[in-house]
Amino acid sequence: MSDIRPAPITVPSVRASKRRDGHEPLVMVTAYDAPGARIADAAGVDLILVGDSVANNVLGYEDTLQVTINDMVHHTAAVARAKPRPLIVADLPWLSYHIDAADTVRNAAALIRAGAGAVKLEGGRKRVLMIEALVAAEIPVMGHLGLTPQSVHTMGGYRVQGKDDAAAEGLAADAKAIAAAGCFAIVIEGVPEGLGAAITQVLDIPTIGIGAGPDCDGQVLVFHDLLGLNAATPKFVRRYAELAGLATDALAAYAADVRSGAFPSDAEVYH
Ligand code: KIV
Repeated sequence: MSDIRPAPITVPSVRASKRRDGHEPLVMVTAYDAPGARIADAAGVDLILVGDSVANNVLGYEDTLQVTINDMVHHTAAVARAKPRPLIVADLPWLSYHIDAADTVRNAAALIRAGAGAVKLEGGRKRVLMIEALVAAEIPVMGHLGLTPQSVHTMGGYRVQGKDDAAAEGLAADAKAIAAAGCFAIVIEGVPEGLGAAITQVLDIPTIGIGAGPDCDGQVLVFHDLLGLNAATPKFVRRYAELAGLATDALAAYAADVRSGAFPSDAEVYH
């Protein structure tokens, strides 16, 4: 068996991955620690997103507004220590790219130094100056439009976006603006499938959908959702396993064995 690993996935290769040019759909999944990154790598995904959804999925917060740049650096470094082949994209958390360009570049640089190959930020035309500053500092940027969880209060909850013509046109204009500012790919979340398809069609960079229909250039799901580690999941999630149930059964069997004296057995003891 060869021990030569395939080359790591790069920003230019992701940027070139438009399905209409014959490329396979991009596969992205979140991971927040080294074991998660190893599993994602072994499964052959293209991109690992160290999402600020670490807030809800790992840290027990109600929303993503609670995580800081230091939290994101901590989790990005843990993922990077697994040395995965997929491109590591790290989320800039809320308020780490809203103040000014210098603050934005410093925060993004902390994520790059922790091991990310690119950063992701939420928002459209109002983020253009920050995206340009990051690109000027040689930091690749992924955009994120539609249902942007950091805007939960502005949106009045986690609601499908771009449902009427004006909102759909606004999101298409946002997509064009951040692509022109230098984003190498854009996550589109929680929009009607027709809008996901229309934005994908007008852009020369790939779109990665989550609840945005089948016509995007790729798909992203949250690790804990697709593995069934979260109790409730949104409509757009497909649960490929029910690991919470399996883990509970395993721990219950362990507890029963300890209490009955069946664990440890003779084979599990140093003699
Ligand atoms: O943080 C996250 O998990 C995300 C995905 C929902 C795209 O941004």
